[in-house]
Amino acid sequence: MSPPLVIRKALPQDIADISRLHAHVFGPGRFARSAYRVREGKGHLSRYCLVAHLAGQLVASLRMTEIMIGGRAGAALLGPVAVDPEHRGLGLGTKLMKEALAAARAGGTSLVVLVGDVPYYGRFGFTAVPPGQIAFPGPVNPARILACELEDGATAKYHGMVTAIPSNAVSG
Ligand SMILES: CC(C)(COP(=O)(O)OP(=O)(O)OC[C@H]1O[C@@H](n2cnc3c(N)ncnc32)[C@H](O)[C@@H]1OP(=O)(O)O)[C@@H](O)C(=O)NCCC(=O)NCCS
Repeated sequence: MSPPLVIRKALPQDIADISRLHAHVFGPGRFARSAYRVREGKGHLSRYCLVAHLAGQLVASLRMTEIMIGGRAGAALLGPVAVDPEHRGLGLGTKLMKEALAAARAGGTSLVVLVGDVPYYGRFGFTAVPPGQIAFPGPVNPARILACELEDGATAKYHGMVTAIPSNAVSG
């Protein structure tokens, strides 16, 4: 019998395991990723961050940061999503994405943005943002700025620079 998968909200005590997973999946280049730059010094976990455990081992994580875009709240930045290489293709990424988007919607988020590939994120409702509308600190390929509307017409309301809303959680 395969061990049960447990998906739950990420807690401060998960940070070391999440960091290890990210180091394994993304290597040293992870600190240059847009989500890391946006979060820098602003707290590590939000109420939407998730972890997945199999037999007590962390096998996947999803981070989401509450942000303002051009000073307007109600948005979130998703990323990174990371699944341990030995546990890919089992639907873990999909489960985390769906659960995080549902939680963000329930929490009153209107728009979720990320920097990523349409071939993967398109299946969850992400589409390209018009070039120049939403900006990130640091270099980002504009074609990879994607958004998922959790409220109809939300994209049109957001223009400008992405900045993290400091969370009360532990930094890292
Ligand atoms: C991307 C990732 C999170 C997917 O996790 P997963 O648990 O393997 O995903 P699922 O099992 O839910 O879905 C697998 C599907 O996604 C597809 N997929 C995975 N990565 C993809 C990519 N970069 N582009 C397009 N499709 C991709 C697979 O081909 C598969 O397609 P299928 O359902 O049609 O067979 C995982 O591969 C990963 O951690 N990758 C490295 C980190 C990364 O690139 N993260 C995303 C950027 S933040």
